[in-house]
Amino acid sequence: MDKYRFTYQDIHRTVRDLADRVVQAGYETDVIVAIGSGGFIPARMLRTFINRPILAVGIAYYDQNNQPTENPRKVQWIEEAERQLKGKRILLVDEVDDSRVTLEYCVRELMSHHPASVAVAVLHNKLKEKRGAMPAEVALYLSGRDIEDKWVCYPWDAKDIDEHDRDAAADRKASDQPAG
Ligand code: G4P
Ligand code: MG
Repeated sequence: MDKYRFTYQDIHRTVRDLADRVVQAGYETDVIVAIGSGGFIPARMLRTFINRPILAVGIAYYDQNNQPTENPRKVQWIEEAERQLKGKRILLVDEVDDSRVTLEYCVRELMSHHPASVAVAVLHNKLKEKRGAMPAEVALYLSGRDIEDKWVCYPWDAKDIDEHDRDAAADRKASDQPAG
């Protein structure tokens, strides 16, 4: 299989597992910060298990032609961030840890507002050489699943969700893989 295809059901299970692990690790979240747009739906799912407010940020690293730009840039940021984040235990959520550049940038920006702590939870971590690095100050880093360096098709990108689900089921049958 040259791609991963995850259904909403798969993602929901992965999020529940992530939430369990956040709690098991003893990390008490004050606020969830979602990195948009890929982190929006996972963050909302996570809130079912960790019921805290969600703040959203938008970081763009790729341009309209899907080419990486020089540096990640903010397309949407938390207003009054200092007031909202100072002293808080942040749980930063994104869908995929790919190059890690956006994640590193985002963690550093959040750190500059003096939170009590930052934990990072991603649905999927691609096992590859990373251009970005997770800052040592990060209290906890969790990935729902470590995966190979292949393209992931997320259900929210599907124009036809039924076709997406059928393809995911066919992939699963072909590779005999368990759900998730
Ligand atoms: P990272 O720090 O989290 O590793 O992110 P990186 O800058 O490497 O990612 C750049 C963009 O590429 C991100 O989206 C990320 O969601 C997307 N991306 C990377 N790998 C995959 C994949 O396998 N499947 C999908 N669907 N997306 C992937 P973005 O440009 O920041 O925007 P958005 O799509 O989240 O809105
Ligand atoms: Mg993203």
